[in-house]
Amino acid sequence: MRCSLKRSLATAISLFLFLLIMNLASWHHEDLVMNDVRKWAKTVGLHNIATHWTVYSLRKFINATNTLNISYDYLAGLPPLQKKFLTLGLCSIQRMRQNYLLDTLTSIFEQSSEEELKEMVVVVHLTDTDHKWNSQMALEIARRFPDQLHQRNVVVIHTPLEYYPPLEGLKRNFNDPEERVRFRSKQNVDYAYLMNFASNLSTYYLMIEDDVRCTKHFLTVIKRNLASQEGTSWVTLEFSKLGYIAKLYHSTDIPRLARFLMLFYQEMPCDWLFVHFRLLLTQKEEIRFRQSLFQHVGHYSSFQGTLNKLKDEDFEEDFSKIPDNPPADIITDIGTFQDYTPSKAYSSVIGYFWGKAPSAGNSFTLLFRQAAPIFRIQIYTGSQEYPDCYLHEGLVALGTYKSHTSRPRCANYIPIGHFAKGNFDKQNLENSTTFDPNCVHILVTNTQSDSLIISNISIWIKPKA
Ligand SMILES: *[C@@H]1O[C@H](CO)[C@@H](O)[C@H](O)[C@H]1NC(C)=O
Ligand SMILES: *[C@@H]1O[C@H](CO)[C@@H](O)[C@H](O)[C@H]1NC(C)=O
Ligand SMILES: *[C@@H]1O[C@H](CO)[C@@H](O)[C@H](O)[C@H]1NC(C)=O
Ligand SMILES: *[C@@H]1O[C@H](CO)[C@@H](O)[C@H](O)[C@H]1NC(C)=O
Ligand SMILES: *[C@@H]1O[C@H](CO)[C@@H](O)[C@H](O)[C@H]1NC(C)=O
Repeated sequence: MRCSLKRSLATAISLFLFLLIMNLASWHHEDLVMNDVRKWAKTVGLHNIATHWTVYSLRKFINATNTLNISYDYLAGLPPLQKKFLTLGLCSIQRMRQNYLLDTLTSIFEQSSEEELKEMVVVVHLTDTDHKWNSQMALEIARRFPDQLHQRNVVVIHTPLEYYPPLEGLKRNFNDPEERVRFRSKQNVDYAYLMNFASNLSTYYLMIEDDVRCTKHFLTVIKRNLASQEGTSWVTLEFSKLGYIAKLYHSTDIPRLARFLMLFYQEMPCDWLFVHFRLLLTQKEEIRFRQSLFQHVGHYSSFQGTLNKLKDEDFEEDFSKIPDNPPADIITDIGTFQDYTPSKAYSSVIGYFWGKAPSAGNSFTLLFRQAAPIFRIQIYTGSQEYPDCYLHEGLVALGTYKSHTSRPRCANYIPIGHFAKGNFDKQNLENSTTFDPNCVHILVTNTQSDSLIISNISIWIKPKA
């Protein structure tokens, strides 16, 4: 009896185990089937999409871990052997009227010193469908800039058309004419492939156009402005208010931006897409500098030669007119409105300080991290929008640090002048103090009922002899 109980128990357990194994096997089987289905769907899906692409395989496009696998044609020059500080990237096509590309390159090279040129490389992407034009232009560049080519300061490339996605029968968003859609969609791809090529050449990447003129020593100004952004997580810095001119990126973001342009190439023009890119990477506000470093010079657009005379009124070609604004901390006892913080008056980024109505004795002081041989100070208060919000009565003084105090405090103020109609501008200040000043002090000398906007403070230090 006992024995048969044991036996039937054993049978029951074996039966249970058998069923369990069968069940597991069938789960496993289902898994395998699902995997097959997924694989099949993937292949079919990819294949169907891929047929719309010519030779270029979408599969490779998706699988590439970083850059897109494209073999570019080198029309002139070669990429630099060492990683540079900055790449300037531009695309160019044949224009119906004037062509500005050679002037643009001339401006870049002439406005930069030898030292600056060593830190940058220009990538010219010739993207005309007419090969003859591309070759002729490359030849022209080689004739005009043999030294720059030899020093690998410029490289001229072309992407074979077979790498391009379809440019016919695209979506006609915004009711754009078909011609326009084709033009802007191709331009997105041109830019994507340019960026893809350039992504590993330097630390920073600057997008420009083929019809611009640049500021003397723009690289030095870019470096200075980059230093002012240290510790922030910017995505795009803008050195022009126009189109896709003078937008600066970290090169590490460039492969992603290239893919982004490819993904949405037919949806909208590049100068809208790059704004979406910045927003997606969670930089909410545009960061544009007060002085534009690149000016649009073309009169005719590359699209059907239509008139496009857009000019950037913030362009400053003269290096000496761009203030130095050495690093400084700001102390004020004037109440701040919202996020119109004191640093916005002094920052090279567009913005201003907006404070509550100040009283006599209130002040606004810049404390330099290092004493600086200041030779010019320019201060604007009020704004076009709020003309009454200027500093009605005030003066400017230079000070030096009182040492031996625990916290640095400015003292020994030497007044250098008064505000006139809310503005202050004084040059030749280098002998006003015995020692290089540590502080610039704005003192309110009369109580006012209007609030106070300080639009901008510009400071020049004496150039080293
Ligand atoms: C993607 O790349 C990996 C590694 O190079 C490779 O093993 C895999 O087969 C590729 N997948 C496809 C879909 O091409
Ligand atoms: C890149 O593409 C070429 C030609 O299409 C191919 O031979 C090569 O294996 C590809 N390289 C990578 C890393 O996928
Ligand atoms: C980028 O360049 C560096 C050297 O300049 C090289 O070691 C690295 O492999 C390159 N990366 C890619 C993805 O090409
Ligand atoms: C400084 O502010 C004044 C007044 O708002 C304005 O006219 C001027 O363009 C500003 N300059 C810079 C460089 O921001
Ligand atoms: C400042 O002093 C130096 C040396 O004495 C002199 O050469 C220079 O002209 C002075 N500058 C001004 C603006 O007075």
